[in-house]
Amino acid sequence: MQHFLTMSDLRNDEILELLEEADAFSKGAQWKTPEPVFAVNLFYEPSTRTKCSFEVAERRLGLELLPFEVGASSVLKGETLYDTVKTLQSIGVRVVVIRHQEDEYYKKLAGNVELSIVNAGDGSGQHPSQCLLDLLTIQQEFGTFRGLNVCIIGDLVHSRVARSNACALQKLGATVKCSGPVEWYDPTMNIDYISVDQGVREADVVMLLRIQHERHKETAHLSKEEYHHEYGLTVERERMMKPNSIIMHPAPVNRDVEIASCLVECGRSRIFKQMENGVFVRMAILKAILQKEKVVC
Ligand code: CP
Repeated sequence: MQHFLTMSDLRNDEILELLEEADAFSKGAQWKTPEPVFAVNLFYEPSTRTKCSFEVAERRLGLELLPFEVGASSVLKGETLYDTVKTLQSIGVRVVVIRHQEDEYYKKLAGNVELSIVNAGDGSGQHPSQCLLDLLTIQQEFGTFRGLNVCIIGDLVHSRVARSNACALQKLGATVKCSGPVEWYDPTMNIDYISVDQGVREADVVMLLRIQHERHKETAHLSKEEYHHEYGLTVERERMMKPNSIIMHPAPVNRDVEIASCLVECGRSRIFKQMENGVFVRMAILKAILQKEKVVC
């Protein structure tokens, strides 16, 4: 593939092929780019996990990573995203990993550049590499997606993670239901909404979402304590979960808001496993891009 932009671009066999590659990397498989490749991580929004794990993945694959901080670049002089990417292409960069606050920012770029764009999150749009690491974590746990019940709980309307995951999990045969405050339901998602208690009882995967305060136009109608009590994974709700069901959260976590702090590293939690898998799926994405012929989107 030239670009990696959204989960809706990918067929099931392409998703499964990326997961197979990522799983092999998780078990120690090695691959290095046969020729020098310059890459840049262009993050217009803050990130810890995505930025650092792309960097680890790039270094493991032998890519030459150019240091680039948006806040110390000519973006501050008003240079557009398009001109920034064209500039990087002109000096020999072949892969740009971009996180940007604008939904679908990549539509202005994809048909107009020769280098490869990897979407590391677009506004409230999609977060496809997070989705792949979530899928890998679920696949490692259950061996399949078909027949699984997944409940996504929280700030749905602002969540690119929810959008990517609901799309991909449904395509792969899982049943996805959502829960959270009604005002955060997402009318664009073709999904059933249920109570948090029902979701927690039924789900094989309880997927919690971070409250995206930075995307909220109004101040929260609930205090942190009220949110935790009404919609969070409390200690009492965790006891309602099925024996083998797991807890996921893309992080960063607002402890004692979306999830009780003591549950973040409990036996059911796969939150740090998700982060570990982030490196492997990002290696798989970059390898597929550098081998262009493997997957087309
Ligand atoms: N999950 C996630 O995207 O985390 P970061 O914002 O830290 O990259």
